Amino acid sequence: MTIDLFDDNEQPHMEQIGPEAFIFYRSANHIEHIFTREIRRLLQVEPPRQMRTPSGLPMSVLSSACGSWGWQSSENGYSYTDASPISNKQWPQMPSAFKDFAAQIAAQAGFANFSPNSCLINCYSVGSKLGLHEDRDEGDFSQPIVSLSFGIPAIFLWGGPKRNDKVKRFRLCHGDVVVWGGQSRRYYHGVSQIKSGCHESWGSKRINLTLRYVERV
Ligand code: SIN
Ligand code: FE2
Repeated sequence: MTIDLFDDNEQPHMEQIGPEAFIFYRSANHIEHIFTREIRRLLQVEPPRQMRTPSGLPMSVLSSACGSWGWQSSENGYSYTDASPISNKQWPQMPSAFKDFAAQIAAQAGFANFSPNSCLINCYSVGSKLGLHEDRDEGDFSQPIVSLSFGIPAIFLWGGPKRNDKVKRFRLCHGDVVVWGGQSRRYYHGVSQIKSGCHESWGSKRINLTLRYVERV
């Protein structure tokens, strides 16, 4: 517990984890109240739901989305849709605070003019995990990925261009942001099984926002 408290008070700092890939620790903390409010609102408009993998297995994370495109996984494969398959309405608009923050942190990582039009909202509970995968459904790989973590910590798995490349592990806490693009854009990554914990705003949940630019479906 002492260690967790210490971690949460850490100052923002940056670590390079791969070619054109960085973690900006605690960099979203100064605007966490905006993210907390907006994420709660978005999850009320489009409640997170359990998707299935193309092999038919239920995913252990619950997902929602905002922006022009929402990422989907189902028995038919992976895709981006412009409307929620649950409400049949267009995904809620991406808050400008998300876009502005992502563009600014991407620029710090060397990616000028990042303009995300898709934001996946993944909700993890204790025991949830996300297997190693590459983000490859966007139809454009010139723009980076910006991933924000809130709530209880996770171990982020960071591999290489091939599935069986050696994996490094990084602990992501509330307010941490990972940016990867360029040479790392198609690198394998994932999240190991979430351990129990308690966060003052999110209880025993972890929320991850993944902002991307999608060219087409
Ligand atoms: C993802 O790869 O889509 C999410 C990564 C994370 O939850 O940190
Ligand atoms: Fe991913």
